[in-house]
Amino acid sequence: MVGTVLDPINCNQTLFVTAMILRLPDPVSAQTWCHAQRAAGRSIGFVPTMGALHEGHLSLVGRAVVENNIACVSIFVNPLQFNDPDDLARYPRNFDDDAQQLEGAGCDMVFSGTLEQFFPEASVVAEITKRDPGPTAEGLEGASRPGHFAGVATICERLFKTVGPGRAYFGEKDFQQTLVVKDIARQLGYPEIVVCPTAREPSGLAYSSRNVLLTDSECKRAACISRALFMARHAWHQGEREVGKLRDVMLRELDVDGIHVEYAELRDPHDWRPEAPAGLLVRAQALIAARIGKARLIDNLRLDRDA
Ligand code: PAF
Repeated sequence: MVGTVLDPINCNQTLFVTAMILRLPDPVSAQTWCHAQRAAGRSIGFVPTMGALHEGHLSLVGRAVVENNIACVSIFVNPLQFNDPDDLARYPRNFDDDAQQLEGAGCDMVFSGTLEQFFPEASVVAEITKRDPGPTAEGLEGASRPGHFAGVATICERLFKTVGPGRAYFGEKDFQQTLVVKDIARQLGYPEIVVCPTAREPSGLAYSSRNVLLTDSECKRAACISRALFMARHAWHQGEREVGKLRDVMLRELDVDGIHVEYAELRDPHDWRPEAPAGLLVRAQALIAARIGKARLIDNLRLDRDA
């Protein structure tokens, strides 16, 4: 990418050039390229995505750029993880815009591919052998979206095997997903899973590819989701430890016109078992899923820490 910036000392325009991103059209060429990078002794940081990139993704890429010799990104809207065909059809797609943003963030390579290219061994979706996502896939997103985590686990394993990264970067916004991918990485023996903080709009709303589906008014109202989480953290800091009471704090904040709460739950992030309402927590992750307009949004927050 070529551009100009104003030099504040000499007040003249200075030319800057960032390296062009390599765009590879399929997983086989990505695998060959990544193999060559590793053979040359370069460490690879990997950010798997479904495109429609936003600040949240770019913060993961920024970290991958800084911590590795090579940063690469996959863009693949994985049909295996959608249990709702309308959600899959509505999912925003803009590869060229995404690739441009990645180039600006210093990413070295981006690749994509079709379902057939990722799973050449299967001629129809039903023939693809799904990976068992393990016990952390139970409840919450796993219950609301049956089959979702099996789809995530299946594509993540395939992506990890394609890239062979030393580190892979995931956003904390998809908290339960980070537990599932940590299990996969433990079983494969790689990569190190780096979980990065949730990036938020000034209103507190977590960045999500689905935010583009919101009208301005819905976007404003959706900010109650993060408010509910921060109110629960406030209650925690005031000494509240009871699951039911912390949940009530969130539900009060979520009582906003047009917000349909699917769950507002608390879990011990190390244990991940459902908690009884009267249960007391020593560590707490608060998690919310809610529908507003055409979007289904999720967000979460660790209550017993400030970050
Ligand atoms: O978080 C996502 O965007 C997706 O679940 C992932 C990890 C890219 C797998 O398709």
